[in-house]
Amino acid sequence: MGRQPPIYNAEERDFLRAASGFNAELMDFIRPHVKPGARTIDLDKQLQEYTLDHGHTPACLGYAGPPGAPPYPNVSCISVNEVVCHGIPNEYELQDGDIVNIDLTTIVNDWHGDQSETFLIGEVSDEAKRLVQTTFESLWVGIRAIEPYGKIRDIGAAIYKYATEREFEVVRDYQGHGIGRSFHQEPGVPHFWFRGSKAGAQIVRPGMCFTIEPMLNLGTWKTVLDKFDGWTVRTLDGKLTAQFEHTILMTDEGPEIMTLTKDGPQEGHQF
Ligand code: MF3
Ligand code: CO
Ligand code: CO
Repeated sequence: MGRQPPIYNAEERDFLRAASGFNAELMDFIRPHVKPGARTIDLDKQLQEYTLDHGHTPACLGYAGPPGAPPYPNVSCISVNEVVCHGIPNEYELQDGDIVNIDLTTIVNDWHGDQSETFLIGEVSDEAKRLVQTTFESLWVGIRAIEPYGKIRDIGAAIYKYATEREFEVVRDYQGHGIGRSFHQEPGVPHFWFRGSKAGAQIVRPGMCFTIEPMLNLGTWKTVLDKFDGWTVRTLDGKLTAQFEHTILMTDEGPEIMTLTKDGPQEGHQF
């Protein structure tokens, strides 16, 4: 990051649509497999196979982490319960009562599409369900808060207000990002803004493409990075966390949600 966000022309927008469209199809493909007894590593293998069978490239596999971290080892990020993001698929079997986020990014013809969903496994507690419901709603609140020539901070301001009014905390250490030919680029998209916050002055121009991906926590917003794998991010207090993500293109008419799925939760969905 650090440069002005690119403004995509009509042809580039079609490439973005194709990448996000395939990524959404991949989410639809995996959805029926996300159930009690599924091992997260097996879900990852299925995602890899589907992506390669369609001639595309998983963006996360081998992705360079922060300095000192090894390249990311898998196709997907699968984050269970207190894992905020970047959970590494492993032998763990999903159990009744878990909440699990699956975050997918695919490269199609050199362009990226990025999205995530949190799934309820079997019967979950009322508070887990309320967290997932509110996180999903907060993504839509963020999407509906932006218009052409508005500011990036309008997104975080709306999400933060919505979440904190419902007594959830918003993760501050990870944010949404511009996306296109690269996975992470300008603009950074914080999911919080309150009086005195500096970030988010960037104007949202038609042709900009970025993700919105709020992470809400039951307890503290603070996170801790796993020292051993260099990737897994957990809540500092070990309480539950949830996330949803879409890739958004700003157009003259308003935001176009590029990673909408056919079978997944639509705006207004009740879990
Ligand atoms: N998909 C995540 C995001 O929303 C990034 C994952 S990077 C990885 O930005 F290397 F952990 F896969
Ligand atoms: Co993502
Ligand atoms: Co993202």
